[in-house]
Amino acid sequence: MKILGIETSCDETSASIIKGSRIDRTVKLISNIISSSVKIHAKTGGIIPEKAAREQVKFIIPVIQEAFEQAFGSQFDTFPIDAIAVTFGPGLIGSLLVGVETAKTLAYIWNKPIVPVNHLIGHIYANWISTMNHQPSTINFPALALLVSGGHTDLLLMKQHGIFIWLGGTRDDAAGEALDKIGRLLGLSYPAGAMIEQLAMQGNPKAYNFPRPLIDSNDFDFSFSGLKTAVKRFVILRPKAEESLADLCASVQQVIIDVLVKKTLKAAQIYKVKSILLGGGVAANEKLKIELKSSIINNKLSIKFFAPPKNLCTDNAAMIAAAAFYNYKPIPWHKITANPELHFN
Ligand code: KG4
Ligand code: ZN
Repeated sequence: MKILGIETSCDETSASIIKGSRIDRTVKLISNIISSSVKIHAKTGGIIPEKAAREQVKFIIPVIQEAFEQAFGSQFDTFPIDAIAVTFGPGLIGSLLVGVETAKTLAYIWNKPIVPVNHLIGHIYANWISTMNHQPSTINFPALALLVSGGHTDLLLMKQHGIFIWLGGTRDDAAGEALDKIGRLLGLSYPAGAMIEQLAMQGNPKAYNFPRPLIDSNDFDFSFSGLKTAVKRFVILRPKAEESLADLCASVQQVIIDVLVKKTLKAAQIYKVKSILLGGGVAANEKLKIELKSSIINNKLSIKFFAPPKNLCTDNAAMIAAAAFYNYKPIPWHKITANPELHFN
């Protein structure tokens, strides 16, 4: 079956067509279009919700059109899809409404089933998507999902498709949020995660010993706001030296990786999982992937490690369509409402 995915929870406007096979239960990416208003927000150092939503109103139809054109030639009006999937939360209310109301309208006029999808669960389903260059092997359950994005840092036990148990999450800043806020302190433009990763490659991760909050706590919670405060104090006290920026980025990145890896490994062992799944924008970080993978090997655990291809780590509609395929529960379009505060069911 072919599903049109629509994602507008933050500053991206994305539409994607995926093909799900009911025979071998795989999902293939057919097209994935992403338009981002991030350049506008880079000027202000963070997202201005009203501006994000106004851009999404402008781009939603062209983006959907482009997704159809790439998938089927120019057949936007012949709607050769079987269903529509849309992110209904969490996110910015104005942004969510653009995607949700567009999807509901298309479902009504095209008479197609519509599946509402939790954005956070969508990030985890990016692991199931096959692309031209990436075919994931079978993901066995129970699986442990580490969701690390700009808005969330959560550990989830996934027992089956659609069955999640939330084990813990951040008590304050998300991992990506901490990177973005620290980036701002260091004069980097928003969002700073990818730039911190680049700069960190030239730096020494042991140069500065910042606190590793909750690393040994007896739960699966995280806390990254103290790291931001420690860097702030450091930056105020020390004169800005060009050569220390790479060391600072490497040291900050290492704190976040150390905490994420330690807690993930602990949960994986306690819950005896067969797979570890990474998801969310911070999952694009190569060092995080390398260190998680090697910690599984070093601890001699027979756990398969999965991470989505880079372009499917950050927000995209393909992951929303994939989540809808594996959890196919259409509901009447008029019963779908955007929910900015949505967490896990
Ligand atoms: O999942 P996402 O696109 O949006 C949310 O749902 O929040 O994640 C965006 C976050 C930002 O905080 C960004 O700085 C971070 O992902 N990010 C990275 C990298 N690429 C994006 N963090 C670390 N390393 C990266 N390569
Ligand atoms: Zn996201």
